[in-house]
Amino acid sequence: MDLAKMEEMGKMENILFTMGHVEGVPLPGPTVDVWDSIYNFQAREDDVVIATYPKAGTTWMQEIMDLVLLEGDVERSMRAPCFIKVPFIEMGALNPMPSGVELAEKMESPRMIKTHLPVQLVPPSFWEKKVKIVYVARNAKDLMVSYYYFQRITKGLPSIDSWENYFPAFLSGDVPWGSWFDHVIGWWKAVDKHRILFVFYEDMMEDPKREVIKVMKFLGKDLSDDVVERIVDHTTFKAMKENPMTNFTSFPNTILDQTISPFMRKGTELWEDGWKNPFSSGPQNRFVRNKRTRLEGSRPDVPH
Ligand code: A3P
Repeated sequence: MDLAKMEEMGKMENILFTMGHVEGVPLPGPTVDVWDSIYNFQAREDDVVIATYPKAGTTWMQEIMDLVLLEGDVERSMRAPCFIKVPFIEMGALNPMPSGVELAEKMESPRMIKTHLPVQLVPPSFWEKKVKIVYVARNAKDLMVSYYYFQRITKGLPSIDSWENYFPAFLSGDVPWGSWFDHVIGWWKAVDKHRILFVFYEDMMEDPKREVIKVMKFLGKDLSDDVVERIVDHTTFKAMKENPMTNFTSFPNTILDQTISPFMRKGTELWEDGWKNPFSSGPQNRFVRNKRTRLEGSRPDVPH
């Protein structure tokens, strides 16, 4: 996949995916269309996987992992836009862009693979090959707002008319990739059985260096303090917003319309800087109070 092809895609108009379902989980139509090839994807022993519910900080962790594997070589980390160097395994083909599986199959090892799939739907070869997986969880409130904007700018996904309608859809799991609750809990429960490092977006915000070190150890690297600092510096919100390889500006705007809202939007808690708190009234406020209850017993606290 080269950038000239991305430009071709930029000329495409009115891309709208139909939504389908796999085992009851809503997924974009192009994913469902090639589901067999996704489920039967053959992982390699030295693959590493970044797994998240959408908008949990996937791109951030992806850059950290890439830089850890490259031992802090910033120049090489900028070899290609993030959506090309890390195949999105359940991305269906979007002519002329090949599917995530096709992209991954052509890639030399070691590969990094991205997925938003709930744990029960990932290709079984991930478990057979015992690949290392980093899962990032982000609190539901910020994630939901981030997803609301993302669905509005992503032309292929179902259109969103208002926050009032989006909120109940998110809570009932009627959004692409399904229920956030089930996703986080499902992956959490898998931690004991597989090689999974479970990381929180909020912890990355609180102390990025501490979290980079965790990832480094998990990936079997021993990097100097200088290198760790370099990785932290290169993956701040500001650095990634300015980096053309991470801010999705090379992604066709017919698919991702960043004139509505940038991909790198806020990267923080929204109501802290005077933005109107979207959870202040009625059922939204009850949700904030009840969320903890629903997660209790299944996993330790999800920070919010
Ligand atoms: P916001 O929309 O709240 O700004 P994903 O990569 O899973 O799609 O997640 C995107 C979210 O992660 C966006 O959140 C984006 O701003 C945030 N993000 C990306 N890089 C970040 C970074 N380096 N630091 C903090 N947040 C980051």
